Amino acid sequence: MSFDRTIKIAPSILSADFANFGQEIQAIEAQGADWVHVDVMDGHFVPNLTFGPPAVKAFRPHVKTVMDVHLMITPVDPYIDAYAEAGADILTAHVEAGPHTHRTLQAIRAAGMKAGVALNPGTPAEAVEHLLDLADLVCVMTVNPGFGGQKFIDLTDKVRRLRAMIGDRPVHIEIDGGVDATTAPKVAAAGADVLVAGSAVFKGGSVSAPDVYGKNISTIRTAAQVAVGQAA
Ligand code: DX5
Ligand code: ZN
Repeated sequence: MSFDRTIKIAPSILSADFANFGQEIQAIEAQGADWVHVDVMDGHFVPNLTFGPPAVKAFRPHVKTVMDVHLMITPVDPYIDAYAEAGADILTAHVEAGPHTHRTLQAIRAAGMKAGVALNPGTPAEAVEHLLDLADLVCVMTVNPGFGGQKFIDLTDKVRRLRAMIGDRPVHIEIDGGVDATTAPKVAAAGADVLVAGSAVFKGGSVSAPDVYGKNISTIRTAAQVAVGQAA
């Protein structure tokens, strides 16, 4: 089976209504989300605090697609089993989170999940060159992690270099931070296939007006698909 490199939209629930995660997750999936992106922040690796394993476990029954868990925590290894038990499908650790990412990725796969590795804006693509056979996904941060709604940092060259480095390997390139219908075409054309979007998906909508989520998701998807000639 060939590797699915079609454009996928992964709304970040960091921009959802925190008092209503179950319904928000169901709403974005019903409106076309391909994956659900869950931002885990520890108030240490990044200056914000979000969800631990118990919250992620509570999200799991509502996620019918793929639960894409982005760890902005350090250390990572002591928590891998807890996120596996919580039901993460993909667990992504930052290459800057510790000296032993090579071991961390193996431990994530050994726990039965897909392994992702994330790069902060200031970290070069080469930092993951020797990790690509252990990863199922590389997440390129296009904002400094910690908050939604920030301005997109144009790292298209980095995405292009990464795409070349990955070659035929079955590794997704995920873009995270400031993705909308204007920025999505650039990174898609450079080789990204997974587009995380928080504020651009949730803006103007709610669980009682979910069609707005649908419009936002399809606007971003179409803009990216046109850029890579995948438009229907
Ligand atoms: C930031 C998070 C992102 C964020 C994206 O640290 O990793 O996933 O929620 O939100 P937007 O799309 O609003 O930049
Ligand atoms: Zn994220």
